[in-house]
Amino acid sequence: MTITIDVQDPSLAEQGRQRIAWATQHMPVLAQITTEFAAQRPLYGRRIAASLHITTETGVLLRALQAGGAEIALCASNPLSTRDEVCAALAADGIAVYARRGEGPVEYERHIEQTLAFDPHLAMDDGADLIVALHRRPAGSAAMAGIEETTTGVVRVRALAAEGLLRFPVVAVNDTPTKRMFDNRYGTGQNTVDGILRATNILLAGAVCVVAGYGWVGRGIALRLRGMGARVIVCEVNAVRALEAVMEGFQVLPMAEAATLGDVFVTATGMAGVIGPTHFTQMRGGAILVNSGHFDVEVDVAELHRLASEEMQVREHVTEFRLAGGKALYLLAQGRLVGQVAAEASPAAIMDLSFANQALSARYLLAEGASLGPGVYDVPPDIDERIAQLKLRALGIRLDVLDDAQLAYGRSWQLGTALATPA
Ligand SMILES: NC(=O)c1ccc[n+]([C@@H]2O[C@H](COP(=O)([O-])OP(=O)(O)OC[C@H]3O[C@@H](n4cnc5c(N)ncnc54)[C@H](O)[C@@H]3O)[C@@H](O)[C@H]2O)c1
Repeated sequence: MTITIDVQDPSLAEQGRQRIAWATQHMPVLAQITTEFAAQRPLYGRRIAASLHITTETGVLLRALQAGGAEIALCASNPLSTRDEVCAALAADGIAVYARRGEGPVEYERHIEQTLAFDPHLAMDDGADLIVALHRRPAGSAAMAGIEETTTGVVRVRALAAEGLLRFPVVAVNDTPTKRMFDNRYGTGQNTVDGILRATNILLAGAVCVVAGYGWVGRGIALRLRGMGARVIVCEVNAVRALEAVMEGFQVLPMAEAATLGDVFVTATGMAGVIGPTHFTQMRGGAILVNSGHFDVEVDVAELHRLASEEMQVREHVTEFRLAGGKALYLLAQGRLVGQVAAEASPAAIMDLSFANQALSARYLLAEGASLGPGVYDVPPDIDERIAQLKLRALGIRLDVLDDAQLAYGRSWQLGTALATPA
C-alpha cells in the first residue's frame, strides 16, 4: 500500500532511529512482545490509526505493532510533544505519519482527518481526540475497536458511552494497574519535575510547591517534589484523597488560600479552570504556573492573556505575564503538559509497561473485539499480570510462591482465631 506522510524534515530519520534504538534498550517487556509478534504476526492485514504523544518511546511501540503485521497511520495527541526526528524515522519505515512539532489547531485537526482516512480497524488514542473525531463522521467505517491511554480520554469515552453514542468496544489502558500505578504516578512524577527544572533551572529545595489534584498523577508529583526538598501543599476536591494527602504528611488547603503561599503551582486534575483569575491576582510576584494534566485547560491561560498588560518569552518554555501593578507570573509550556513539552515525557522504562498494555490490548481487541459490544472495558487481568511478570523477570527480581498448605488456607473458611478444625 502506498502511503502519504506530512512530517517536518524527512532527513532527520537517522537521528530518530538512534533515539528509538536507545529507548528500545530500556523497554524489555515490549522487546519480548515484539519478538512474539514478529513470529506470530497477529495483526497481519489490520489497519491501526494512532493518536499519541510522538515521543521516542512511541516509536518503539509502533515498531512492535509493525512487527505484528499491522499497517499504521499516526498523528499527534498534542502539538507540542511531537519529536520531528521520530516522525521522520517512522515515516521512513513505512508508517503514514501526519505530525509536526508545534503544529497549529487547523493542521492538528487536518492530521487527525488524514489519519482517519486510513479507515482503521483499531483506533489507538491518548486523550480521545481520534475516537471523538471518528464518532463525528458518519457510521459505517471499518473501525471495530479502540484503546484509550489516559485518564482524561477515558472520561471522554465514558461520556460518549453514557449518551449511547459509542460504536465499538474501547479498552481503558489507563485504568489498568500496570499503567496508572507506574506511568501516572512515577513516570509523570519524574517528568513533571524534569520539565520544571529544564524550563526554569530553579532551586526546588525550600520552595513552596502547590499541587492541585492528588490522584495518581498528583501523588507522584507531590512525592517527587518533596524528595527534592520542596514544601508541598495539596489542593483537592475529593475528601478521601485529601485525607490521604494529610496522612502522607502534606498540608492541604483550598486553592484560594494556597494561591497566596506558593512559589510553584502544578495542576494535575483533568478538570478545567483549576487556577483562574482570582488566584492570579492573589499570587505572589514571580510565581510559576505549570500543568501536567492532559489538556491545556487547568490553568486558565485565556484569562492570563486578558489580564496581562505585557507578555514576553523569557526562556524557551517560559512566558512572562505582566499584570496590573507590575507583578510578573510565569507560565511554563503554554499551559500544556510540562513533562512532554519541556522534557522528554516519561522514561522508557515506565513507558515499557504502558505500551506493553497497548500492544497486547491491540492483539486482544483485533482477535476478540467483534464479540464485545460497544462500551468501555478493562484490560483483561491476565495481560496485566503477564506484563508485571515480564518486567520483574527483566529486572531480575523473583517472587515467593504459595505452597499447597497456604493455597488450602486461602480457600478455607474453617480456620479462625480458635485455629482448631472441628473434630
Ligand atoms: N503528564 C502526563 O504525562 C500524564 C500522565 C498520565 C495522566 N495525565 C493526565 O493527568 C490528569 C490527572 O490524571 P490522574 O490519573 O491523576 O487522575 P485521577 O482521577 O486519579 O486524579 C485527579 C484528581 O484531581 C482531583 N480534582 C479534580 N478537580 C479538582 C480541582 N478543581 N481542584 C483540586 N483537585 C481536583 C480529583 O478529585 C482527583 O483526585 C488527567 O488529565 C490525565 O489525563 C498526564
